[in-house]
Amino acid sequence: MCGIIAYSGRKEAPEVLLNGLRRLEYRGYDSSGIAVVGNPSIKVVKAVGKVDALGNSQGFSGLRGNTGIAHTRWATHGGVTQENAHPHMSSDGAVAVVHNGIIENFRELKAALKEYVFYSETDTEVIPKLIEQGMREGKTFVDAARDAVARIEGRYAVVALHKDGTMVAARNGSPLVLGVGDGEYFAASDIPAFMQYTKRVVYLGDYDFAVIGKGLHIENLQTGPVTRDVSTIEWDAQSAEKGVFEHYMLKEIAEQYETLSRTLEQDPSVITRLATDVRNAESVVLVAAGTAYHACISGRLLFSRIADKNVASVRSSEFENVAHLIDADTLVLAVSQSGETADTLEAVRMAKDAEAKVVAIVNVAGSTLHRESSYALFTNCGPEIGVASTKAYTAQLALMVLTAYALEGKLDEGRRVLDSARNDVYNLTAVSTREHLKELAETLKSMEHVFTIGRQLEYATAKEAALKIKEVSYIHVEALQAGELKHGTIALIEKGTPCIVFFSAANKRETLSNAHEVRARGAYVVGVGPEKDEAFDYFIKVPETGLCNPILQIIPMQVLAYQLAVLRGKDPDRPRNLAKSVTVK
Ligand code: G6P
Repeated sequence: MCGIIAYSGRKEAPEVLLNGLRRLEYRGYDSSGIAVVGNPSIKVVKAVGKVDALGNSQGFSGLRGNTGIAHTRWATHGGVTQENAHPHMSSDGAVAVVHNGIIENFRELKAALKEYVFYSETDTEVIPKLIEQGMREGKTFVDAARDAVARIEGRYAVVALHKDGTMVAARNGSPLVLGVGDGEYFAASDIPAFMQYTKRVVYLGDYDFAVIGKGLHIENLQTGPVTRDVSTIEWDAQSAEKGVFEHYMLKEIAEQYETLSRTLEQDPSVITRLATDVRNAESVVLVAAGTAYHACISGRLLFSRIADKNVASVRSSEFENVAHLIDADTLVLAVSQSGETADTLEAVRMAKDAEAKVVAIVNVAGSTLHRESSYALFTNCGPEIGVASTKAYTAQLALMVLTAYALEGKLDEGRRVLDSARNDVYNLTAVSTREHLKELAETLKSMEHVFTIGRQLEYATAKEAALKIKEVSYIHVEALQAGELKHGTIALIEKGTPCIVFFSAANKRETLSNAHEVRARGAYVVGVGPEKDEAFDYFIKVPETGLCNPILQIIPMQVLAYQLAVLRGKDPDRPRNLAKSVTVK
């Protein structure tokens, strides 16, 4: 996690860096800091708390300069303090460093740096001290930085800044992308950090080491000089802005009508290729973390039913347990919004070691997952900034549905079905629906526990609904397969216990009978599905759309989660303790 932004050019760096940090804040918001090359030394300002605390600090308003680095932190090593905030400095103040990742051998490195005083508890601080040590031995800044980076074990994205304005940027495992403007350069954890200034980007590979000075020079620490192409991104700058919405989460929920149309703009041959790979594989494993994993539950049900074969869905962090079952006849489909989730990447590497074919469903082009897969299907939903995933989830589901149709040789029909489901998405994200759901949020806002239930595809929705409500409102929500209720959890149902029931034409009879069972024990039953039933105290109508049901049914739950967060005074865009990209294991 953590977000990095660096700038070298003619603009006022503090402003560029602060704008960048605001767009990276989803990656962590424990503390932030900035270092700008001044005359004669580097000036550093840090603040605990959200990026606004840094922007509003007295020190920040006095900063001037055209080159600098900045960081927003999600604490790993060391508590949330000003001392632990990045940038970290060499003891002579000549070098400042920002870092995202984990330096696994930092204790050994630190032990060999006894003559230096460390001011923080972070692993990062060894880097400026190592560079300083190298420079004291007579190396140039760039050579000392190269040697320092080569000694780091673990995952990192690092930018080091020298007081003469030279910067180096290096990565292994953690994301880092360069932006190339007119006479100016950017380095950042994610493209939205500099997208308002340039759309020309260079994706760095693992072990790449870039020197940004009068120009840009890139080498690879393992293979030597390399050429990296400059690509032009298609996202427009506005897609990373909140616009008229109060929060990114609401904006991203509301734009699903449009994002789904971009998801549908797929090269049909890529969908058909995935369907063929699913068909030809002996077994298929879908792997992902968090919300993306819930899309995999739907994918598993769809593919196994249609392709009539063993399809598993596995959480990335548990992949190790099934790795021995993977071989060259396995297709591993890795699903991720960011393409940078450490556990998912690790699963992919295990799969590749076992010679499995790895295909990705991913949102961020150029991400590590994209580059490490045989090929990728892009969700194309633009930058997702809200920590709780919304539009990326429905886009992942849409790709699962298209692939399912392609498996039956009916891709065109799949596109038509999805396209018509988009009209329902429009209604479900309308202001009137949001207001209607506010009433339900008012009823639920003081509850301590909520249960969500469903079967088959609707179970995936129950899981994702539970996660959404939990992560932004902090209400405890437990998702269950509807039939499992009576094997324990029904003991918790008493007068007024909220129970949200998802159902579709495929399982209406059984699921509604479960709704009656909890209702009979006093539950406050919320029904989500195509038609009203007397078991419901509150009904959310979602039209029946077969395979598209999960896409439509989750939308009112995203809205409900958002309303609950707001009514409970929580920030839905920055839920406590969470970060959008979990780049540590
Ligand atoms: C974090 C985020 C979730 C996301 C998960 C997987 O936990 O808070 O919203 O679903 O990571 O992220 P990915 O980028 O791999 O989809």
